Amino acid sequence: IADIQSHIDHELVSKDRIEDLISKVAAQVSQDYAGKDLLMVAVLKGAINTLAALSQAVTIPVQLEFMSLSSYGSGTTSSGSITVRKDLDCSVRGRHILIVEDIIDSGRTLRWLVDELRSRGAASVEVFALLDKTCRHEVQVDVKYPGYVIPDEFAVGFGLDYDERYRNLDSIAVLKPQEYEHEDQGEQS
Ligand code: PRP
Ligand code: MN
Ligand code: MG
Repeated sequence: IADIQSHIDHELVSKDRIEDLISKVAAQVSQDYAGKDLLMVAVLKGAINTLAALSQAVTIPVQLEFMSLSSYGSGTTSSGSITVRKDLDCSVRGRHILIVEDIIDSGRTLRWLVDELRSRGAASVEVFALLDKTCRHEVQVDVKYPGYVIPDEFAVGFGLDYDERYRNLDSIAVLKPQEYEHEDQGEQS
């Protein structure tokens, strides 16, 4: 297996642009939640890099919690149904929550999670997503801290995977076509 950069066809968002956006969002979050007890909920696994960067850039103390949700399976298109692989291990009742995500595709993961945390009694639920495939939205999601809009190309890096790989790339990129040649023909999952 060759160096990760050799698997990349083209870059969508550079490391510098990711850092720039996250530092701006962190400054805004630090201001908006000053004096509040903020709980950041990261959606595993894709949000790990975004959560790590954002949480270190905010200047207020925050609680970090994780929920593992799956919508893509191993293919390159969202399957539409949400599977809870790991639930939160704390109550969100009365808490101010910022959901941290890597990408909005159909919007189903975030739509489900926002509704779920509200129904569990959160005091407020807001969203930061690093990337947004606006052209693929199927359901509406209110995003307080918007990220970069990207085209409808399958993106990897900074937490985003293809078949559980490439999450460790430090930018957002599109893989060379040959990386997908083992994917099943027809309906993707
Ligand atoms: C991806 C991505 C988002 C979600 C977006 O997660 O990280 O969580 O899909 O798609 P949607 O807007 O259509 O719901 P995935 O299901 O691949 O799990 P992962 O984060 O573990 O890779
Ligand atoms: Mn995810
Ligand atoms: Mg995935």
